[in-house]
Order: sequence, then structure tokens, then C-alpha cells
Amino acid sequence: MDKRRLAWRAEAGERPDPYRVWLSEIMLQQTTVAAVTPFFEKFTGRWPSVQALAAAEEGEVMAAWAGLGYYARARNLIACARQVAARGGEFPDTEAELRKLPGIGRYTAAAVAAIAFGRRAVVVDANVERVVSRLFAVSQPLPGAREELYRLAGTITPDHHCGDFAQAMMDLGSTICTPRAPRCPACPLLDHCAAGRAGEGERFPVKAPKAVKPKREGVAWWLEHRGRVLLVRRPARGLLGGMLAFPTEGPPADAAWRDAGSVDHVFTHFALNMRLFCAEAGGEPRGADGIWHPIDQLDQAGLPTLFARLAARGRAWREAA
Ligand code: ADE
Repeated sequence: MDKRRLAWRAEAGERPDPYRVWLSEIMLQQTTVAAVTPFFEKFTGRWPSVQALAAAEEGEVMAAWAGLGYYARARNLIACARQVAARGGEFPDTEAELRKLPGIGRYTAAAVAAIAFGRRAVVVDANVERVVSRLFAVSQPLPGAREELYRLAGTITPDHHCGDFAQAMMDLGSTICTPRAPRCPACPLLDHCAAGRAGEGERFPVKAPKAVKPKREGVAWWLEHRGRVLLVRRPARGLLGGMLAFPTEGPPADAAWRDAGSVDHVFTHFALNMRLFCAEAGGEPRGADGIWHPIDQLDQAGLPTLFARLAARGRAWREAA
């Protein structure tokens, strides 16, 4: 099995750049390699160092992140870059120090310490959890088994080349030891794998039944005036915090509001049905603080996916009107 060539990986013999390792690991939380790659290239093209990112305007970074989801990551990304820049642009090189930075938890601290600095660290993401649960045929269900999987991962983590080991486990998990239909005959670890040898790879990891996601309803308001539509910046805390969006806190003006349909969007903890009401403002609306954004440039506004989908409804409404 060959290693995957990924935009943030150093080539053999090259020293990894801690900034690129950190940025990629933050982006890869809850997000696939395929989705991350164009964002990683955009970010490193625009902000090639942690100092450059630290100096960026916050709204620009949030807009560049639009579409990647889990926006708290972007807010923490900026905060972390600024703290690292304040210490001269050098990331700390131990797990314990890395964990003190915004947005860096147990997994990310271990991944950066191992991959960027060659430290011994036990790196466990969902891929590694799956590989380890199969190697040892762990019958306890997730999430309860998490500590046991950490312990078992620790028993096979080497003292050297820890970053290579971690990334090899991730590559194995995403190419061979896949969630469905693992390709056990192609696996270099088959001889050591309790589940694989028993022909039961797919049975692991055992998972506790998922809670059904609650459903919520919401309303957003498309108010347009002379080819522009009203956008607001959402409060820093809460859902899609810090992102540009259509108003959702009630109608931003008295107007003849029309129902333009709804979109369904799934978040981590709930499913949302959001309905869009559209209207043309009679005059320049007063008291509506926000940004009047040109409708023909909405694609460049940096809307998160839910609101980009609502924007398509708004445009369809005005074309039909
Ligand atoms: N997922 C998270 N970090 C990764 C990495 N460094 N390589 C591949 N997949 C990953």
C-alpha cells in the first residue's frame, strides 16, 4: 500500500511545515480529504504563513471558509493563528502546549505533535478507531469504547516515525479498512487482525444506536432593493456564528412578503427546514443594519451552504416575479 500524496504532506526527506500541518488537521476535522483539498490550497495560496493568516481580516477568513462547515473551527483558527503569531510565529512542539491553543483538542494536539514535530503521540481519529477496533475485535460499542481504543492504539504506536505511523493508519482506514466492505485480502495487517482473520471486519467498530436527530423549523428573509439583497453578520456564538447570512430574527422591514419555499439542511445535532420569505423594499429601508450585497455577486459573498441554497430560492423567486 502506497502513501497517499496529499497537498499538506511533506515529501520524503522534507521537513513538514507546522503551519500547513496544523491548518490541514483543523480543516480535516469532520470533513473529508476530497472536500478539504481545494480549501487548503486556497488558504495556503492566500495566507502562506501563520503570520499572514494572523494579520488577515476576520470577515475575509470566514468568507474563505464558507462551504467547509463547522464554523467555530474558523473562528478558533483565527484566534489560534494570532496567538502563535504573538509568540513569534512558532507553534509549540508538545501535545500539552498545543492543547492550550484555541481549537486544538486531544486529537489535533497529538496529530500536530507527531506529524509536524516527530513527537511520540497517540493519534486517534475515526479512521484509526475503526482500524484498531478491527485489529483487536473490540466488542464494546462506541462511543463508550473510546478510551479502550486509545489504550490499544497506544500499545501499537512506535517511539519513532510517529507521524508516519499515524498517517499510515489513516490511509489504511480510508483506502482498505473502509467502513463498508473492507478490502481485507489487500490489507498488510491481515495476519495481525482479529476481525479480518475471522472474516468479520465489517462488524467493527460496534456502535451504540444513534439518537434520532430532532427536526427544527426556521425562517429567513430575502429583502431586496435595486439589485441588492440585505445580508447580516450572525452573532459570533451559536449556529453559523460569525458568518454572513440573510436575516432570521424576524422580518427586517414591513413589506409584502412572499413564500419562496424552503430547504432542508442537516447539522450535527438537528435537521433544519428553513423557509424563505422574499420581498422588495419600497424605499431605502431604514433601521435595517446590514450589508446590501449585489444579487449578481452573491456567489462571492461567502455564504455558508444553507444560505447559499436559500439564495438560489431567492433568485428563482425574482426571476419568476
Ligand atoms: N485525516 C486527518 N488528518 C489526516 C492526514 N494527515 N492524512 C490523511 N487523512 C487525515
